[in-house]
Amino acid sequence: FALAADGSRPLDFQSPPHKITDDIQLAPGHSADILARWGDAVLADAPEFDPQNQSAAAQAGQFGYNCDYLAYFPLPRGSDNSGHGLLHVNHEYTSPELMFPGWTRVDAGQQAEKGKEADAIEAASVDAQTPEQSAIEMMAHNGSIIEVVKENGRWKMVPESSYARRITLDTEMRIAGPAAGHERMKTGYDPTGEKVFGTINNCAGGKTPWGTVLMAEENFHGYFGGGDPDNAPEARNYKRYGVKANARYPWWKSVDRFNLAKEPNEPNRYGWVVEYDPYDPQSVPVKHTALGRFKHEGATSFVNKDGRVVFYSGDDERFDYLYRYVSAGKFDPAHGLENRSLLDDGTLYVARFDEEGLTWLPLVFGQGPLTAENDFQSQADVLIETRRAADLLGATPMDRPEDVEPNPVNGRVYVMLTNNSRRKPEQVDAVNPRGPNRHGHVLELIPPGGEGAEADHTAERYQWEILLMAGNPAEADSGARYGEGSDTWFSSPDNCAFDPAGRLWISTDQGSSQAKNDIPDGMYACELEGPRRGDVKFFFACPRGAEMCGPEFTPDGTTLFVAVQHPAESGDMSSTFETPSTRWPDFAEGMPPRPSVVAITRDDGGPIGG
Ligand code: FEO
Ligand code: CA
Ligand code: CA
Ligand code: CA
Repeated sequence: FALAADGSRPLDFQSPPHKITDDIQLAPGHSADILARWGDAVLADAPEFDPQNQSAAAQAGQFGYNCDYLAYFPLPRGSDNSGHGLLHVNHEYTSPELMFPGWTRVDAGQQAEKGKEADAIEAASVDAQTPEQSAIEMMAHNGSIIEVVKENGRWKMVPESSYARRITLDTEMRIAGPAAGHERMKTGYDPTGEKVFGTINNCAGGKTPWGTVLMAEENFHGYFGGGDPDNAPEARNYKRYGVKANARYPWWKSVDRFNLAKEPNEPNRYGWVVEYDPYDPQSVPVKHTALGRFKHEGATSFVNKDGRVVFYSGDDERFDYLYRYVSAGKFDPAHGLENRSLLDDGTLYVARFDEEGLTWLPLVFGQGPLTAENDFQSQADVLIETRRAADLLGATPMDRPEDVEPNPVNGRVYVMLTNNSRRKPEQVDAVNPRGPNRHGHVLELIPPGGEGAEADHTAERYQWEILLMAGNPAEADSGARYGEGSDTWFSSPDNCAFDPAGRLWISTDQGSSQAKNDIPDGMYACELEGPRRGDVKFFFACPRGAEMCGPEFTPDGTTLFVAVQHPAESGDMSSTFETPSTRWPDFAEGMPPRPSVVAITRDDGGPIGG
């Protein structure tokens, strides 16, 4: 690759058209291989996908819905092979209106026209769902592990791989850390409080230095319903996390553990970070409670120079917080998977920003307000109600922290603040300077100690800077700000990745604003150093209705894996199985759109971005 005179490495591709279409669009000179689509066989005994007659049994062996976080693990374990490996895929949620023939939200269009709230539409619509459809949704959540290989320059999934695995709501998991075994973690089917089946709403994630995957549990609240949550013993806890009687998913009507009247503690067993070993299909996933319970977007790691391991995680909700976990013990590469105990003994911190910097506030039982006076009897209570503990410490309410990721090259931490339409002008502060913030911004955290590996990610104080303000600079009073050489704009930064040169790659999720903004969701590359700092370039477009998730480079940077999530989804539910707004990627009559994982390579075989 070519270095510029100032030593930086400029992006060398041309952008595709910046407009919404039915298909993906790539920078010229690149190719895309579709690796796995919803319904493709993952396990050897999975039947062929038949969208007209889908069943839970079939779905349990097939690629799940709404692919999100991607993590590439070279084969063999410990190598840096960039042409053969395992790909872990999160399946965040399901879109029943696009999955099931005849599934229509009851009068959804009419209700939307009448201006009813989304909650009312959801409550009316869920009655239309059958128990089998709920069971299919349960099997379409969680994760897939697939083996992928590059042959003659093209990527493909290896069929009938011995590594292949589906993780679903039936997968047994262990609960570890300070909240494991606590009274509030016990249920009718698990009197130990240490065992749970499956994970929920796995959005982004992370990798550990010892080579395992972390799956973050994000919007878990929408899966528990019924009962009278406003008057239950856990009412305050439910309220802070948005658990309510009329859940988005009607699973509670057919499966007792999602019914709040029958299993009031079940929601306490979600909202954590889950770890498993992708190289061992028999490995039992573990929920590590020491990292706190909130709507984790992801959990990304950095080995500090003193050997302690640091994990960053955002709580993706308007006005929620940014967190950091620091292990008590030190990482030892000779000890392999035994290092996972580092995730069970450490300190969780929440961020409080001021004009000069940020302070990490420890969430430790017995310290400050985290005492019996505020109904905390143990560290388990602090972790189960992480949000309330952070409220009491005076953490800074942020504009929806999505991916938070340390850059191994420069040692700084990048925070995608996706948007916050509800921040009022009188609520702005130095670090969230726009109200309303319809397009989000990217924050750079600067630990003391030096660049790269020298940065001290255990320090109490960091500095910070706003890297860019998203939005369209051509719009009056947009407040948008990029590098001076930028030739594009974007909205709602969500996930991110770094190429081997340390440049930032941002994926976007505009949600129902996509049509209004009139630009596609996709991948945008951003320079971080030198005179081009903050310059943004458009690289890849999702099809209509989709958001972009999961960017992940191979170790050599020649392949970029991305997840195209919910193609054809529409904010008003007008796009359905029968009449989707796009049929990507198959474009076949009768075949619905399918969330899919894509591998992008350069036709000259060079590193993505140059
Ligand atoms: Fe699932 Fe925060 O996006
Ligand atoms: Ca997502
Ligand atoms: Ca996300
Ligand atoms: Ca998102």
